[in-house]
Amino acid sequence: MTLVYEGKAKRVFKTEDDNIYRIEYKDEVTAGNGAKKDKMAGKGRLNNLITSYFFERLIQEGVPSHFIERTSETEQLVKKVTIIPLEVVVRNVAAGSIVKRLGFDNGQVFDKPLVEFYYKKDELNDPFISDDHVKLLGLADDKDIHELKRQALIVNETLIKIMNEMDLTLVDFKIEFGKDSDGNILLADEISPDTCRIWDKATNENFDKDVYRNNTGSLIDTYTKFYNKLEAL
Ligand code: TMP
Repeated sequence: MTLVYEGKAKRVFKTEDDNIYRIEYKDEVTAGNGAKKDKMAGKGRLNNLITSYFFERLIQEGVPSHFIERTSETEQLVKKVTIIPLEVVVRNVAAGSIVKRLGFDNGQVFDKPLVEFYYKKDELNDPFISDDHVKLLGLADDKDIHELKRQALIVNETLIKIMNEMDLTLVDFKIEFGKDSDGNILLADEISPDTCRIWDKATNENFDKDVYRNNTGSLIDTYTKFYNKLEAL
């Protein structure tokens, strides 16, 4: 099958249907825009299982997405979309780059969720950009920006609900959107411990890629523990 795109964590293939792609989750893990890189057996399977679970729950909540179905432990079928080159980050609690950049205390709870845009461009290191930059770069117009933020906040509500059921705090996460051939904005990409910060409510233990970024634990053990909690719901 023809490879359409290979990213750091996934491969996208054409299928017999022009409107459907097959995504294969890889065992590669990277941090710092590829500065740190490793191969970990089982990582693709875990992220595919977790992403598929989240997207199924989001569909139940009425969030339109590219997800069709999981077809194996490491693969899923999705609707073909053109990815909007924006990382949409939602933050409920201060951690990561916002602590370094703006001096918030790590763990400070925000009164309301904050939505940010980052420009997906490896050569520029995915910089933070304003709504006006988004428009100037021609990435989205006012109507699309409003829709991206609206959908991001619904995703946040749904993920918070799921995390609460697991006694976990959703600190922040990154999502991406695409447009289908009719111009509809659909949630795309993945939602996994690679793309979220998740803390144990009791101990603040990380259930996310920070264990790899900061060398504080085994990524596979952490993601397995997270998936086992999810499966037990
Ligand atoms: P940050 O604190 O580094 O800006 O990250 C915010 C959230 O977005 C965190 O949950 C990790 C996620 N994220 C990605 O999934 N991919 C990325 O390239 C970056 C920078 C962050």
